Amino acid sequence: MAREITTVGVVGIGTMGAGITEVFARNGFFVVGVEQDQAALHRGRGHVETSTGRAVRRGKMSAAEQSQLLERITFTTDMDVLAACQLVVEAVPEHRDLKRDVFARLDKIVTPDAILATNTSSLSVTEISVATELPRRVVGMHFFNPAPVQEFVEVVRTVVTDDDVVEDVTAIARRLGKAPVECRDRAGFIANALLFGYLNHAASMYETRYASREDIDDAMRVGCGYPMGPLALLDLIGLDTAYEILETMYRQGRDRLHAPTPILKQLVTAGFRGRKSGRGFYTYDKPDSPVVVADTATPTGAPPAGVREVRSVGVVGSSDPAARIVENLVQARFDVTTVDVVTPAVTGADLVVEAVADELSAKREVFTALDAVCKPGAILATTSSLVPVIACAASTSRAANVVGTHMVAGVAVDRDLVEVVRTVSTADDVVATVRSVCRRAGMHPVTCGDRAGFIVNALLFPYLNDAVKMLEAQYATADDIDTAMRLGCRLPTGPFQVLDDVGLDTALAIQRMLYAEFPEPGYAPAPLLENLVTAGFLGRKTGRGFRDHA
Ligand code: CAA
Repeated sequence: MAREITTVGVVGIGTMGAGITEVFARNGFFVVGVEQDQAALHRGRGHVETSTGRAVRRGKMSAAEQSQLLERITFTTDMDVLAACQLVVEAVPEHRDLKRDVFARLDKIVTPDAILATNTSSLSVTEISVATELPRRVVGMHFFNPAPVQEFVEVVRTVVTDDDVVEDVTAIARRLGKAPVECRDRAGFIANALLFGYLNHAASMYETRYASREDIDDAMRVGCGYPMGPLALLDLIGLDTAYEILETMYRQGRDRLHAPTPILKQLVTAGFRGRKSGRGFYTYDKPDSPVVVADTATPTGAPPAGVREVRSVGVVGSSDPAARIVENLVQARFDVTTVDVVTPAVTGADLVVEAVADELSAKREVFTALDAVCKPGAILATTSSLVPVIACAASTSRAANVVGTHMVAGVAVDRDLVEVVRTVSTADDVVATVRSVCRRAGMHPVTCGDRAGFIVNALLFPYLNDAVKMLEAQYATADDIDTAMRLGCRLPTGPFQVLDDVGLDTALAIQRMLYAEFPEPGYAPAPLLENLVTAGFLGRKTGRGFRDHA
């Protein structure tokens, strides 16, 4: 028979624990929130008060409901008070020995049929469970940050967890209004295993100065419709927590793509742990605040020197991005000439955008022809996503005037993204000019170097490929993986929906390009993806991909 759970303990009321405490109290449970000292307890209570106070200000909760909610919570430094709880959720920092110690102590305090759950993000639940006398009542209950907002919970079953423990925790998660998914005990479970490779890669893009922090974040927000960019998300999660999660995943899987990027350790060592400490990749107005303030790395917003005047724009080709670019330029009252192949009609253009087939010889041919007909000083841009921009530039006698303008139609935002790609030869004023044209045409420019995938594809496709590998390993179903990413991280669509929408052949071509340029074993295209493409199951366009669209 299912346990009757009315009182829940939460051990550790930091970023996650406070959110978990709030979620239980919001749903009518009595909660015992435990911290190790008064200062930490005070901070934890402050988190809950601030978060519920915001709900009151937004009219989502009345002041009376807020005080009733707070009255249901007992804040204490005395672990023995947890004896009254039928379920205890541990949410202390991600250190194995610390968690094991907490579980060994809890085991002696609660009644034998109480459930002990860990909110660990990546540590082995099994290893934590064996610190107790009754590992069969230990389970993972993994919430996502901010816990009151994200609707997903991973319920982690170890090889010893009792069925009724998993059932009761799943039922409780539903009572909290969450969508629980059961998974096995593997580092990163579903969502973090897919999310953290992406976050780590974004941190390394920033570390290598491939793009600015604002441009990396804007690329994913505008181009993919993600609620926040990866560096801002790392700051939200906490850089110390992110470091520990990556380190654990790396130790378990030895995938170099999970080895924490050195900048994470450096920032943590300097005390910059993200929002919670007031500084991480960004600077915040105070600790625990979401408000970003300007620092020395913030762009000034002043127009860069040397922007050239652009009035007339030629567009060569009739691909999808061409139509969208033309529409944006025409709306912004540029003088636009469109041609299918290079003709003298584009001779007078200040800027010519090439948008022909994404194939090396086709692009080279167009650039050689453009170089011959365009006026001296005209800027030549390519919408290429697969062909390196420098290959186009090298087909001309004006490499300094050649730039990439890879357009990504905005998802869930009203602007299109343009990745303005600088080659080793592109002149600074050319980049500044193209960024300015994009802005005038209502598109959002970000700047990056000429590497495979630029920003968006380089961050997006390895994550999609990892999702396919997870499915292939039968760790989770496509539905559970999509749910995890949509409800755990509020992504607009899950990876399998994205793959079916963009086309499995396109995804495979991009992944192959990335693997050719960055020969990391982790980038090898998933065999299942290769097989589906070979079988002609390309996604929505063929009626079948990971799902049936007939
Ligand atoms: N606590 C409680 N509620 C919060 C909150 C918090 N810390 N932050 C935001 N909210 C609520 C707001 O009150 C608001 O609620 P209503 O719609 O009911 O008014 C709602 O969330 C939206 O908030 P905002 O309008 O202030 O801001 P936003 O729309 O920009 O959303 C965000 C902010 C919820 C953080 C959103 O950007 C988001 O979902 N980002 C992705 C976060 C993510 O990926 N989390 C998973 C990280 S991985 C993880 O957590 C696992 C791990 O093991 C580390």
